[in-house]
Amino acid sequence: MGSGAPIGVFDSGVGGLTVLKALCAALPTESFVYLGDTARLPYGTKSAATVTRYSVRAADMFADYGVKCLVVACNTVSAAALPAVRERLAGVPVIGVVEPGAQAACEVSPSGRIAVIATEGTVRRGAYQSAILRLRPQARVSAQAAPLFVALAEEGLCSGEVADSAARHYLGPMFRGDLPGGPPDTLVLGCTHFPMLAAVIRAALPAGVAVVDSATTTAAQVRSALQQAGLAAQLAQQRVPPLAPDHAAVRLLATDDAERFARVGSRFLERPISGAEVELVDL
Ligand code: DGL
Repeated sequence: MGSGAPIGVFDSGVGGLTVLKALCAALPTESFVYLGDTARLPYGTKSAATVTRYSVRAADMFADYGVKCLVVACNTVSAAALPAVRERLAGVPVIGVVEPGAQAACEVSPSGRIAVIATEGTVRRGAYQSAILRLRPQARVSAQAAPLFVALAEEGLCSGEVADSAARHYLGPMFRGDLPGGPPDTLVLGCTHFPMLAAVIRAALPAGVAVVDSATTTAAQVRSALQQAGLAAQLAQQRVPPLAPDHAAVRLLATDDAERFARVGSRFLERPISGAEVELVDL
């Protein structure tokens, strides 16, 4: 495994493509192997033991692909299974999305009153709450599970009546003006599906609330981890030629329904994906 090896990117489905997009933009000389475990989606409602079992199998697959670094582009896996994945991929840097998201929130929040929306599992495990409090011990963190947003993003219902009313349903109580100490000034999108709904989410928030997600901060952390480990690729080392001059090389794997992955994933990655481009793998 050298600097020309690919970077692995793992999510339960297509949500992690929002992180892959940021990785491609930040690291255009790298190549990527993306796995969406579409056969087992959603992870967000499953127990930590089950998510860990699935994630360890995925880690073994990434080891077979010889990745030089693994980005866990799923908040639910980052919250439940990061230690197990790291143990499985000893010697390979494994970067989750919860710490970078918490870092982004702590950097932009003036008051330290931070709201988080995520899957049930991520909220229940208190992953963002602890990551934020580690960085900013005086912070006040509220968290709300917003599982409908996963389904809405997958269905492409990212605007309109249904999405607006889901956003008001989840965010209204979190940002009430009469909350003791005042409402939060920052919202963390703690699920990789949620950036797809950023416009309706912003519209449901009081003016001036900052909205952050993990994608850009994660990409920056990956870049510095690779540089520190002497594993950053030079253009000449890239295994697969770039798809376009400004586009890193990407190999897409899914565990079920390549056509659906391509159709839904095209919206998340903001470029057309054909079913033939998606390889089916078994974990
Ligand atoms: N992409 C997952 C996350 O960031 C959510 C989807 C799921 O429930 O599997 O947590």
